[in-house]
Amino acid sequence: MMHVFLCLGTWILLAVAVSGVFQRPSFKPSSHPDGGLRSECLWNIMRLTLDKTLAVGSQLEISAINGTDIIPLSPTLAAQCGYSMESDPWGNTKVFVSLLGCYVANQADATFNLGLRFRMYGDGLSKQVQHNVTETCRYSRWASREILCDRNYMEVSTLMVTPEVPTDGQKVQEASWQDAIPDTVAANSIWKITFHTPDSKVMVLKDAHRAGYGATTTPTRLVLRSPYNMAETYSEEVAGVPMEVFSVSTYYKQIRRLAIMDLAAACPTGGLVFTDEVITWHVPRRITPLISSAVKILETHMGIDGQRLDKTMMATRRYKLSITESHVVIELPVGSPDGYYKSHAPDYAYHITYTVEPMLELLWRADDTQADTRYKVLFPITTPLMPRPPHVIGNTVPEHKVFDLLLGTFLHDVELLNITFSAKVLTVAECNARGFDVQEHRFANSSKTFSLQVPFSDEVVLKHNPDPMTTVYFLPLVFGLLILPEQTPFSHPAELEASLEDVVLPTITGFCDQEHFYISVKYGSQGANFQTMMLHAGSWRELDTELYSLSDNRTHFSIVVPFTAPDTVFEMVQSDSVRARVDLLLLETPNMWKLNDLSLACYFPLTMTECYSNGTVTAIAVKVESVINLNPEYLTLSDQSCKPAFSNDRFAFFSFNLNSCGTTRTFFDNFMVYENEIAMHHSTSKHQSRKGLINPEYRHTVSCYYLLNHTETMAFRTRPRNQDLKAALGVGQLVVQMRLAQEVSYDLFYQTEDYPVAKYLRQPLYFEVELMQSTDPRIELVLENCWATLHEDRTTLPSWDLIVDSCESLDDRYVTVFHPVVADSRVHVPAHIKRFSVKMFTFTRDENVLKDQIFVHCDAVLCDTTKHDGICSGQCANPLRNAKPLRQTGSKRDRRAADASQQQISSGPILLSDSSNFV
Ligand SMILES: *[C@@H]1O[C@H](CO)[C@@H](O)[C@H](O)[C@H]1NC(C)=O
Ligand SMILES: *[C@@H]1O[C@H](CO)[C@@H](O)[C@H](O)[C@H]1NC(C)=O
Ligand SMILES: *[C@@H]1O[C@H](CO)[C@@H](O)[C@H](O)[C@H]1NC(C)=O
Ligand SMILES: *[C@@H]1O[C@H](CO)[C@@H](O)[C@H](O)[C@H]1NC(C)=O
Ligand SMILES: *[C@@H]1O[C@H](CO)[C@@H](O)[C@H](O)[C@H]1NC(C)=O
Ligand SMILES: *[C@@H]1O[C@H](CO)[C@@H](O)[C@H](O)[C@H]1NC(C)=O
Ligand SMILES: *[C@@H]1O[C@H](CO)[C@@H](O)[C@H](O)[C@H]1NC(C)=O
Repeated sequence: MMHVFLCLGTWILLAVAVSGVFQRPSFKPSSHPDGGLRSECLWNIMRLTLDKTLAVGSQLEISAINGTDIIPLSPTLAAQCGYSMESDPWGNTKVFVSLLGCYVANQADATFNLGLRFRMYGDGLSKQVQHNVTETCRYSRWASREILCDRNYMEVSTLMVTPEVPTDGQKVQEASWQDAIPDTVAANSIWKITFHTPDSKVMVLKDAHRAGYGATTTPTRLVLRSPYNMAETYSEEVAGVPMEVFSVSTYYKQIRRLAIMDLAAACPTGGLVFTDEVITWHVPRRITPLISSAVKILETHMGIDGQRLDKTMMATRRYKLSITESHVVIELPVGSPDGYYKSHAPDYAYHITYTVEPMLELLWRADDTQADTRYKVLFPITTPLMPRPPHVIGNTVPEHKVFDLLLGTFLHDVELLNITFSAKVLTVAECNARGFDVQEHRFANSSKTFSLQVPFSDEVVLKHNPDPMTTVYFLPLVFGLLILPEQTPFSHPAELEASLEDVVLPTITGFCDQEHFYISVKYGSQGANFQTMMLHAGSWRELDTELYSLSDNRTHFSIVVPFTAPDTVFEMVQSDSVRARVDLLLLETPNMWKLNDLSLACYFPLTMTECYSNGTVTAIAVKVESVINLNPEYLTLSDQSCKPAFSNDRFAFFSFNLNSCGTTRTFFDNFMVYENEIAMHHSTSKHQSRKGLINPEYRHTVSCYYLLNHTETMAFRTRPRNQDLKAALGVGQLVVQMRLAQEVSYDLFYQTEDYPVAKYLRQPLYFEVELMQSTDPRIELVLENCWATLHEDRTTLPSWDLIVDSCESLDDRYVTVFHPVVADSRVHVPAHIKRFSVKMFTFTRDENVLKDQIFVHCDAVLCDTTKHDGICSGQCANPLRNAKPLRQTGSKRDRRAADASQQQISSGPILLSDSSNFV
């Protein structure tokens, strides 16, 4: 608690970074009571205070001025001479001088003059400032004994008295003249001193001075002074309070005789009890080393910094002075404005102390001698280190996306220097430049806190996702702090965490055109933190970027997938399209969370079956998803020897003729239907399905519908109604044509441009009706009815029957004759052709020729040669002979008009040649 700064033999104030330069060359303290350098007389001491604003540098040197001599006051000299000095960490300096100290010009123990020189150095001697202070104090109310306990010395003075009036505790002895006083000792001065430790040790004055003791006489008083902890002082506990005791017998020369006087000082070095709120200071009520009889305490005073306080001030400050049975007790609340707080960081941990310097003054009177003792203790107190671990108060509202915190509480002497983020140290200025808004907030008591705001978006904020939707923001910090002015560094770590459900997941959209899937992935808030997986052959695999055309920008990436790509599956096959699907999955890395998926299925046009009029059929079989183990290579047609012309792992391509490979044929409404079936006939697949595995029999029907239409070039394009849509349908055309041959040889035919063909009456007309293009020998063309009309419209009247129910009309003057058909270079299937001839005739009414042209019409039927039924029994195989020669209605023909295989054909106009009109 007793401390002075020692440096180079002078008192040096270590003050750092002190602003405010004192520039006036001389200074008159009394005229500037608030000017920074002040001196006051406080009873038996003088106090000089130097405000920190006056300091210009880091060093302060104080010297005493004794006339023209400048005596630098070293700590040893100060303690010996009654000077004490204390600077707080910021450079506020107090100097106490005992009025009985060295270099104080003492006039009759009543007026005291002191001159002090303050010299301040900056860095280097260029910044040197010097102030002279002189002060005069008047004090004459000396008690017979005065004891002064300052921080670095104990002083006792006593009135030099005649033996008749001894003071309390003093024993004035008549010394025997055998103790010869050297002549050099002047009158009224000290010869030698016996120190009681409690053993006795004798020193002459010069030796005592050399040992560091002060011993002098003033006009009326004997003054002795000792620093603490000297070889000739000792410690003693008094009423539980440790005290340092300085006890001597002084031999001094009076005018006529040698006098011996016992003097003692005893100063407390302890007696403190601390709590967080109160400092309690105990001083023994009876300081036994100083008294020899009962005493009466006449006065008690409490003061601060050497200055007495009145009762009002004490109440204001909540100071208490009380006397108990054994002690005088002073209580001071921690933090009163008379003291100061200071920050410390032992082992980098934040602590504070509070320092205050109370004073206790007692005046007591000895019962026996009635002599008074004034006892004065200046007692600087610093509390032990009080830990004040800083608190981090988080004010973060996650929705605001900013970490918001307060760090505190610190004393005014703490500065925030820097903040260490996960890997980076930023100064406060850099933090603010980055937008972290570091601010210092001061309380009225000058304590402070620091606030900081860090946006979640800054890269110093660490993030992780405990689940797909949540982001945890994490901010580890270390605050780098500094205690001024010592520049003691310390730090405080903090970890902030906030979680927010703010993840925007990536989304997938897609569409199709005729050939491709177009898939677009919109990145979510986490950017490209995922793997794009595609379902391939039943398991997920990562998107093959080589395989598909890929485009990417900041917000999206998109891929184009052909519908036949390896990562698609076929769900379903229709006659003219295939339903294909692609499956995507976005997997977060590294947690493998499913972020989103898309299953996109579209119909893509694909002609599964093509039926050509020459009887060739091509069919494609595709592997569909539901048939897991299908190997297209092993597909066959009904006839298992008919294998794919080409196959791979997803397709089989067949090409075959309708006459082959087990193709069946049926008639259906206006169509002739050929059907075959593509199926899995390989033994392994049968084996698997028997075992109950998920391998349903793969069956795929190939159908060709041939529309029966006599019009040569019309292609059939509509799908028949009520068909099983799963069957692959092919359509083709079957055409029946009727031509007029020039000769019975049926080699030459009239062409379309030859019409109207002219014929003489009764000249034979050779007709041929042919099923075109088909090579199917199982079809027979049968002419059911043929008739002639005047007009192109086959339903007009009058009409004349030529063939009725597949036989020649019996009632025919111009007899109808069938001609056999045999195979030759042109005729491959004779059953597909029927030939007949009639003789040219005209329609007459009342012997008048109605018109000189006719049209011939037939209803032909395509028959299944394997079934002989009705008309299809063959051309006139079952002749019916009951037809009327001239029908007035078309009812009979109408009845058959809806027949499945009926073909309606007509000739072009045939003209009656004029020249043969009469024949
Ligand atoms: C201070 O006092 C000393 C000694 O008396 C003297 O030499 C010096 O000039 C004085 N300085 C000022 C600034 O008055
Ligand atoms: C102070 O100066 C006076 C003469 O001016 C001298 O007698 C005295 O011894 C000096 N004091 C000290 C302590 O040097
Ligand atoms: C200063 O005031 C603040 C706020 O009232 C308080 O938290 C802090 O402890 C005070 N500081 C001291 C040293 O008393
Ligand atoms: C940050 O501040 C601490 C504490 O004051 C200090 O020890 C450290 O050197 C500083 N770091 C940087 C890089 O300035
Ligand atoms: C990125 O591409 C998507 C479509 O793929 C488009 O909608 C979006 O506008 C593009 N964004 C930019 C920044 O080019
Ligand atoms: C039948 O016609 C198709 C298409 O015109 C042709 O590709 C095919 O070779 C023909 N088949 C035969 C046996 O002539
Ligand atoms: C037969 O062909 C004609 C002429 O091209 C057409 O108008 C008619 O609809 C076709 N018949 C059928 C049943 O499609």
